[in-house]
Amino acid sequence: MEFEHKPIMLDECVEFLNIRPDGTYVDGTLGGGGHSSEILKRLGKDGLLIGIDQDENAIKAAERKLSSVETQGKFVIEHTNFENIREVVKKHKKDSVDGIILDLGVSSHQLDEGERGFSYRHDAPLDMRMDRNNPLDASTIVNTWSQEELASIIREYGEEKWASRIAEFIVRNRKTQKISTTGQLADIIKTAIPAAARREGPHPAKRTFQAIRIAVNRELEVLEKVLEDVTDILRPGGRIVIITFHSLEDRIVKKAFQKLAQSCICPKDLPQCVCGIKPKLKIITRKPVTPSEEELEENPRARSAKLRVAEKL
Ligand SMILES: C[S@@+](CC[C@H](N)C(=O)[O-])C[C@H]1O[C@@H](n2cnc3c(N)ncnc32)[C@H](O)[C@@H]1O
Repeated sequence: MEFEHKPIMLDECVEFLNIRPDGTYVDGTLGGGGHSSEILKRLGKDGLLIGIDQDENAIKAAERKLSSVETQGKFVIEHTNFENIREVVKKHKKDSVDGIILDLGVSSHQLDEGERGFSYRHDAPLDMRMDRNNPLDASTIVNTWSQEELASIIREYGEEKWASRIAEFIVRNRKTQKISTTGQLADIIKTAIPAAARREGPHPAKRTFQAIRIAVNRELEVLEKVLEDVTDILRPGGRIVIITFHSLEDRIVKKAFQKLAQSCICPKDLPQCVCGIKPKLKIITRKPVTPSEEELEENPRARSAKLRVAEKL
């Protein structure tokens, strides 16, 4: 299958990155290479693009796409988690970089590759790993985690108000038969949510699938951990551009940017600063930027996207 993923807010991302032809840029979520190919086109012979993805299929697709871009700029690709961004940049003999983009979550391709188990629309083994070397998959979570742990992730990562009932139904069902497929899990979730509550809103399995995917790939933990590293490796004036797809991610980015942009918190009457807090970032987007109506018409999957940008001081 061709890797079909429409890059979200492409023009906005490229503009916010302020690309310099001789700069070094990191795309931490290469996917099909949509954002990366536009960055690469703008690089001259001294420019470098470092692309990272934890999914081998994405790496292969991006490699093909980037190889077809006519540019003087160079690119290198690393198959790893972007939580290792510091080491990756060091490996390519750079102390700092001029811009970083993270376009979080799953790609359309991962959702469309039914056998990966990301989607309740395809019946497939329960997997959901972006990186197939990850020892934790969705089946392990669904079949071995305690009812309390399941309820907690479904509530927290899925923001699902029926979390306790869904966890109870999962545990009851797995006692008689292992839950092996996305279809079985989606049916169990449907029976756990009362019919009246199912009539409105998205597919009843959407929130629970999101929660399990986030847990399998440690998505929030990795994001929380990486934002300080990303700030440290940016050169002054360099920018970090992040696209999120749900409120949990957006909240983490917003809070981290606020914290990193914070200046001295000493009481005004102190003669000199004793807290030592100095801002590292300037927030460029006070409010998140969202896709235009035109983009939404063309690509409904962009609906929940939010873009935030900050600049290294
Ligand atoms: C939304 S897609 C990116 C699409 C890309 N911007 C494009 O235009 O084609 C997200 C990609 O990031 C990868 N990804 C998500 N979290 C990651 C992480 N922590 N480390 C490395 N790759 C990650 C996924 O495997 C997926 O391929």
